[in-house]
Amino acid sequence: MAILFHDFDDITIRWGTDSKKYGLYPKDVIPMWIADSDFKSPQAVIDALAQRLQHGIFGYPSESQRLKKAVSLWEGKRHAFEVTPDWVTFIPGVVGGLVCAIRAFSRPGDKVLIQTPCYPPFAASIENNGRRVLCNPLLLKEERYEIDFGHFERLCQDSQTRLFILCNPQNPTGRVFSEFELREMARICMENDILILSDEIHCDIVYPPQQHIPMASLSPKIADYCVTFISASKTFNLPGFRTAVTIASNSILRSRIHDVLTANKATGQNIMGTLASCVAFESGTDYADQLVRYLKKNLDLAKVKLKKTKLRLVNPEGTYLLWLDCREVTEDPDKLMEFFVRKAKVGVQNGTDFGEEGRGFVRINIACPHSILDDALRRIQDCFEDGISQATVA
Ligand SMILES: Cc1ncc(COP(=O)(O)O)c(C=O)c1O
Repeated sequence: MAILFHDFDDITIRWGTDSKKYGLYPKDVIPMWIADSDFKSPQAVIDALAQRLQHGIFGYPSESQRLKKAVSLWEGKRHAFEVTPDWVTFIPGVVGGLVCAIRAFSRPGDKVLIQTPCYPPFAASIENNGRRVLCNPLLLKEERYEIDFGHFERLCQDSQTRLFILCNPQNPTGRVFSEFELREMARICMENDILILSDEIHCDIVYPPQQHIPMASLSPKIADYCVTFISASKTFNLPGFRTAVTIASNSILRSRIHDVLTANKATGQNIMGTLASCVAFESGTDYADQLVRYLKKNLDLAKVKLKKTKLRLVNPEGTYLLWLDCREVTEDPDKLMEFFVRKAKVGVQNGTDFGEEGRGFVRINIACPHSILDDALRRIQDCFEDGISQATVA
């Protein structure tokens, strides 16, 4: 079959499209914060949606067997994860699904383990539902975050710990956990009867030679303790459709999530999001391959340009998110935002949003055309060039 080329260099104006990313900062700031990309979705997705729109009737949809099959084929083909379509349950978004799982598998007052720095809604979803957050901070060694397994095990041995929310690939550090790390986390969780909620929304954006390994693909026994969360939204830029799924081989876990979804009237699918996700998973291989290659070039460009500054890049193994250590310039989060947003005019996300471990860090989303990234990096370089004294920038 002929390869379809996607033009990731194309610049599409997003101002005035109700975009959250573009609504936060003034127009002279390049928005590089929230995790959506500035790339159009695959043409096949756009065409399918346009055709469906012409039908003109958008009533309640029935449960999509097509999407269950598409998810199963995608996971098998891309990640060697053999998923039976029946294992798939629809959720209105990964975070909404995590909330349902937290409610399904723990009681108020129970403890839920996360590894920080981490995606802010994890802690919020735990606390907003009356559960308690347990943190196992990841340890920054040179340019890479590592798991403190001793601390992880001690937290799992706490009799009130019920759940572990794994983020793999990890937002914001870009870690893609190895088979050894995954097996070790799984061993500790299973020994302590802790269920694993594995958020793998960034699974398709991994830079070779790294490889994404779905936690539940490691063995049927591990899968028994696991609920996996995925969506087409990051890879194919579809987050506005609010469509995601859980995958669980364990029918008891599936039915408990289903019960919470039903009790909260959170079932039902977005008719266009379902179609977009089906087409993306069914025909998005070329797009996903080209996306990763394009992002790798963006990453390489960022590495070169940032070397000339006092900012230290934590080398990402996956995701389109860069985690920048700015502590040599300042640890003050307000000052950092002042430098980036008001001086450099680059709209980053403050590291402290990801937990106290993020003090002195910012997160930058590089899922944009090369030319935009180049402009942003030039602005950052001008502001943070090596040799500029703290007094000059302060
Ligand atoms: C790790 C992670 N999980 C979940 C989400 C959001 O998923 P959803 O929009 O489906 O709730 C994001 C978005 O940035 C994310 O980075």
